[in-house]
Amino acid sequence: MTTKIGIIGDGHVGCTVAHQLIISELVDDLVMIDVNEKKVKADAVDFEDAMANLPNHVNIKVNDYSALKDAQIVISTLGRISLETKGDRFEELEFNKKQLKPITDTIKKSGFNGILLVISNPVDAITNLYQQLTGLPKEHVIGTGTLLDTARMKKVVAQKFDVDPRSVSGFVLGEHGDSQFTAWSTVKVLQQPISEFTQDKSWRVEDLDNEIKEGGFTVFNGKGYTNYGVSAAAVRIIRTILTDARTELPVSSFQEKYGTYMSYPAVVGREGIVAKINLKLTATEEELLQKSAETIKEKSQA
Ligand code: LAC
Repeated sequence: MTTKIGIIGDGHVGCTVAHQLIISELVDDLVMIDVNEKKVKADAVDFEDAMANLPNHVNIKVNDYSALKDAQIVISTLGRISLETKGDRFEELEFNKKQLKPITDTIKKSGFNGILLVISNPVDAITNLYQQLTGLPKEHVIGTGTLLDTARMKKVVAQKFDVDPRSVSGFVLGEHGDSQFTAWSTVKVLQQPISEFTQDKSWRVEDLDNEIKEGGFTVFNGKGYTNYGVSAAAVRIIRTILTDARTELPVSSFQEKYGTYMSYPAVVGREGIVAKINLKLTATEEELLQKSAETIKEKSQA
């Protein structure tokens, strides 16, 4: 079976995801869509110029919504960030909201019936809107959510312990935004609960909270956008879907209990969210999750 993927938005994130999909040999047919036709066409030609020196071949179509019909996955990376917004993800809400109606109408018209992966910020609010406007099943619409923040948490903890970030497990939960939090009760380093390393009281896990949450802004302030971290998170989700790997990932998925999309680990496979899992959180973490859900809903209405 050939793999077809559509990417809506060819900004810093869109073309980085496209590049990663091409060089990871994850895609056979790529549909690239952007309002800036000159830029998206140029990127397509640039990718085509790479083909003769790559082991795989990718067929690329530009700005052809009808080609999304039989795509397994469509990714939304549209957005407009600027240094004036200081990286506040909700600053993009109004702009992105306006784009969504015509875009979702065209997606629907194409007959697309696959998995929609949303990266556009504020990702939890935009994922809510994409699901409502497309009418796709909730399990088929996923936001990258705190998979990125969880990677940032793993990096910060790994640096503290001088180990591989893959030797750290656990989750950042809630909004991909200010109300996110690291659920420290879930975090393990080299298979041991992190609390076992703080018993000497010389430091507290909470000392790391700021660095984790501010991670994106460090990058944003340095170059005006972030792309590699979030693209790696998106490509991991895409790989998980395409291979039907059924991996538990902290992605933005619809949380019935709270009535919003928000990040909480769920099992991801070919059919999107294929199973839910239940963490044993502390009462404080449950409260933070509730607050994060309220924040997403409040800010979405503003
Ligand atoms: C970040 C953007 C993608 O946190 O929200 O890098």
